[in-house]
Amino acid sequence: MTEAEFKTQFYETLTQRRSIRKFKPDPIARETLDRILMAGMQAPSGKNRQNWRFFVLEGKRRDEYLKLSQKSWLGIKDILEKRLKPSLYQFTERFFFTLGDAPVVILCYSHNDAEEKYLTSIGSVYMAVENINLAAIVEGLGCCTMGAPLEIKNEVDTFLNMSQYPEYQRGELELLCAVVLGVPDHSPPKAPRQLEGRVTYI
Ligand SMILES: Cc1cc2nc3c(=O)[nH]c(=O)nc-3n(C[C@H](O)[C@H](O)[C@H](O)COP(=O)(O)O)c2cc1C
Repeated sequence: MTEAEFKTQFYETLTQRRSIRKFKPDPIARETLDRILMAGMQAPSGKNRQNWRFFVLEGKRRDEYLKLSQKSWLGIKDILEKRLKPSLYQFTERFFFTLGDAPVVILCYSHNDAEEKYLTSIGSVYMAVENINLAAIVEGLGCCTMGAPLEIKNEVDTFLNMSQYPEYQRGELELLCAVVLGVPDHSPPKAPRQLEGRVTYI
């Protein structure tokens, strides 16, 4: 591949990325998941603390997590009812109830500690989450990053038995988001980007 081709393909991959909310139930090979998570962990992080922690749910545990996803819906449904047109609202409700049949859910935590500013810790984990989003595309997969689990943060912690970890006992492990992942079973339109006022050259 020439440099020009690489450049074109790279920017196309970024433009192509969109949130996927409907998946084929096909399982994802462990090697593929490993590659995606390794891509996540290539991200930069404040003071190189690599403070991301990923908990991967598949099979029975993924099925059990659906109950929590359904509960998280209750926390945000009123806001979405006002913001979304009825057909999209119904689609989103179904997504929360089924996670679009995604076979994999990655719960992403930040290890926050006194050596780093809070926002830097959080930002570092989100850098890794974006790498995961992009690696999913390269693998022919799709994903959706979800902040909704924050509605039921404590219940997710309990579900994962986080209290077994000393960092959690010290109050340093914090849930940031979920990434649901699988083989796409729809091709949604790209949400248009609003560019106005987003960039100011000084
Ligand atoms: C931090 C974060 C939280 C999000 N939370 C949710 C969520 O809870 N449920 C959902 O369906 N989508 C969620 N999304 C996906 C956004 O809705 C989506 O990225 C946005 O609408 C733009 O669409 P695109 O990803 O297809 O470009 C989240 C995205 C981010 C970055």
